[in-house]
Amino acid sequence: MPFTNLSIKHFRCFEDLQIELSPGVNLFYGANGSGKTSLLESVYIFSSGKSFKSTNLKSLINHNHNKFLLEIYDNSRGYISTIKKSSDKPISIKLNNKKITTSNLVREFPCTAIHNNTFSFADASPDFRRKILDRSIFIAEEGYLKTWFSFYRSLKQRNNLLKNNRISEVYAWDIKVSEEGDVLNNYRTSFFNKTLEEFNRTIETLRPLSVFNFFDSILIEFSKGWDNQKKLSEILNDNKEKDIIRKTTTQGPHKADINFLINKLDARQILSRGEQKFFSILWCCSQHEVLKKHYNIKATLLIDDIKSELDDKTFNLLIELLKASDNQVIFSCIENCFSSKIEHDFNNYKKFHVEQLINK
Ligand SMILES: Nc1ncnc2c1ncn2[C@@H]1O[C@H](COP(=O)(O)OP(=O)(O)OP(=O)(O)O)[C@@H](O)[C@H]1O
Ligand SMILES: [Mg+2]
Repeated sequence: MPFTNLSIKHFRCFEDLQIELSPGVNLFYGANGSGKTSLLESVYIFSSGKSFKSTNLKSLINHNHNKFLLEIYDNSRGYISTIKKSSDKPISIKLNNKKITTSNLVREFPCTAIHNNTFSFADASPDFRRKILDRSIFIAEEGYLKTWFSFYRSLKQRNNLLKNNRISEVYAWDIKVSEEGDVLNNYRTSFFNKTLEEFNRTIETLRPLSVFNFFDSILIEFSKGWDNQKKLSEILNDNKEKDIIRKTTTQGPHKADINFLINKLDARQILSRGEQKFFSILWCCSQHEVLKKHYNIKATLLIDDIKSELDDKTFNLLIELLKASDNQVIFSCIENCFSSKIEHDFNNYKKFHVEQLINK
């Protein structure tokens, strides 16, 4: 579902800009501070109502104005979406002139965003890794949103009771938390397994090129947030004393994580920065591929600062992998990083020099 026309007004460093994107591969290049990340950020907002960079949407409004306006057009469906944010009002999101919630947006304009925070996936907090996995499942599975909200609502109730010492009432919530938690965990486990399969398949295709030593010793495990041998209902029961003392639910799907191990050691203690970045991109692209293969969802792939930290050999390897994608891709880089041969190999390739876009 490619984005074709993008209009940006009073957003970050931009005054007023219209861009016609390619449904294939797009590269935005330009100097530091020219607006590359902001451009990718503007596309990402259509997929989430959020920025991948700032939690405060006000900071996205250009300093000289008091609101921003973004408009995007999806040629294949004839969809138009508008996002408005004034400094004194909540964000307003419309799809074909009708209001739409941010949670529904993610399925209408699916996007996988890989950026500075995602580059050190193994080093990030469990919460961040959970969010990345959950986001893909929101896109893939219609029922996931409801399940996710039900579980977290019940968990909040249970935690409130623990906090307020209303222990006799906690038992009633154990059933709900464990039932909803099991459904949530099944979604996550299933999506994780598909991603792992995809990741391993990619590693196999790269193995003959013997690029990185860690390929042979990598182990990726899904940790569901509680002891693997036990049911969630048992865990809630067994942990009751501990939960009462700590005034919170100590184990459950809210503690789920993905563990990356190299020779059985935490990957973040082993991998170099370039290796971490390559590995993180590979993992996120594997999730992206699962959306396409298993769910027939062609999400747009955004990769900010694609070349930073990568040497030419690793970068070329990444390009080889991305060439195979027929989804829309939007890259950014401080320089025009693709040779004419690569440009030729890409599907429907378009490049934009960001400084020139602004001065048009
Ligand atoms: N609300 C805002 N109003 C005006 N300018 C802003 C606002 N927010 C950020 N900027 C500026 O916008 C410019 C573009 O930022 P952006 O992060 O998009 O640059 P970039 O091209 O990605 O740079 P880099 O190569 O360093 O990553 C920066 O100069 C930044 O200071
Ligand atoms: Mg940037």
